Amino acid sequence: MVIACLRGICSCCCPASSKPNPNNQETKTMAAGDVDQITHRTVELSTGVRLHVAEAGPAGGATVLLLHGFPELWYTWRHQMRALAAAGYRAVAPDLRGYGDSSGAAPAPAGAADADDPAGQYTALHVVGDLVALLDALGEKRVFVAAHDWGALTAWSLCLFRPDRVRALVALSVAYTPRSAARKPVDGLRALYGDDYYICRIQEPGAIEEEFARLGTELVIRKFLGYRNPGPLFIPKSGWGSPDDEVPLPSWVTEEDLKYYTSKFEKTGFTGALNYYRALNKTWELTSPWTAAVINVPVKFIIGDLDLTYNTPGIQDFIHKGGFKKFVPLLDDVVVMKDVGHFINEEKPEEVSDHIISFIEKFN
Ligand SMILES: *[C@@H]1O[C@H](CO)[C@@H](O)[C@H](O)[C@H]1NC(C)=O
Repeated sequence: MVIACLRGICSCCCPASSKPNPNNQETKTMAAGDVDQITHRTVELSTGVRLHVAEAGPAGGATVLLLHGFPELWYTWRHQMRALAAAGYRAVAPDLRGYGDSSGAAPAPAGAADADDPAGQYTALHVVGDLVALLDALGEKRVFVAAHDWGALTAWSLCLFRPDRVRALVALSVAYTPRSAARKPVDGLRALYGDDYYICRIQEPGAIEEEFARLGTELVIRKFLGYRNPGPLFIPKSGWGSPDDEVPLPSWVTEEDLKYYTSKFEKTGFTGALNYYRALNKTWELTSPWTAAVINVPVKFIIGDLDLTYNTPGIQDFIHKGGFKKFVPLLDDVVVMKDVGHFINEEKPEEVSDHIISFIEKFN
């Protein structure tokens, strides 16, 4: 999850190497659950990262890149992948670096200044670098993008830095807010919500990992996926509940879905995913050239009214009263879904698929 950008969380990016890579390994395996017709492979990127990529749909179809958020995986897009494939599109959903069956950052070269800062390899520049390298590896010049939560933040960065690679974007949950030179996003969040606010708590390496280990991976996933409180998310220093907490699954998550997420985070741990939050400072530092920058890509934005990201002070005015449109002049449509929480593409799979398809059709 990620807060609906206080000024400054969103920003971007840097040149990525665009060497075509011959090392794509085709491995056709089925994932858990009812995700038939989805194939899987590993793509070796020129950034040194190995991305696990799930794909569906006809090879000749226009490509739709699907970017997941925290704490999720490619799997969050399983419903949209089938819908897109049925509509003739080729859906491509990676596990982003540090997640699931993808590798983390490539080891820093010996003697590199940031060799002892693994989170420094998770800035918007690095993650967008992976996406550009992925498009190059796939032989795709321009793609449609649909993205949620941290994926949406990354997609905004991709659009800022490489608008030439994006035909149109459907962003879920996280609106674009431009970088502010005045204040680092983490400082803004701390001033607003205090030290127990989850993004502030995540900053310190190891502390949240310990708390998640105390609760157990499955319960942590349950707590996140089940979070439907429109208020801010706190993970108090005194503890995020008990390992014995009973957290019912929302109706739109099956036991099998939970098992898939849990098994992957059991294997990787949470550190890779948490590193995105820990790189916010470095991203802010490196993206000063994009202060107050405008996004020049056609966009549709969808959000649930119960989403914590829709309840950040000031965000509704920003979204509806001209601020968003000023920084995203090609913003075509804003959809607010009633009685819907944060994990909108899983909670309202058909509606979200229809929104994506009806929007990108205009540009295909
Ligand atoms: C980012 O900077 C803020 C202070 O501006 C600090 O509180 C926070 O711990 C920093 N995060 C990391 C990961 O160093």
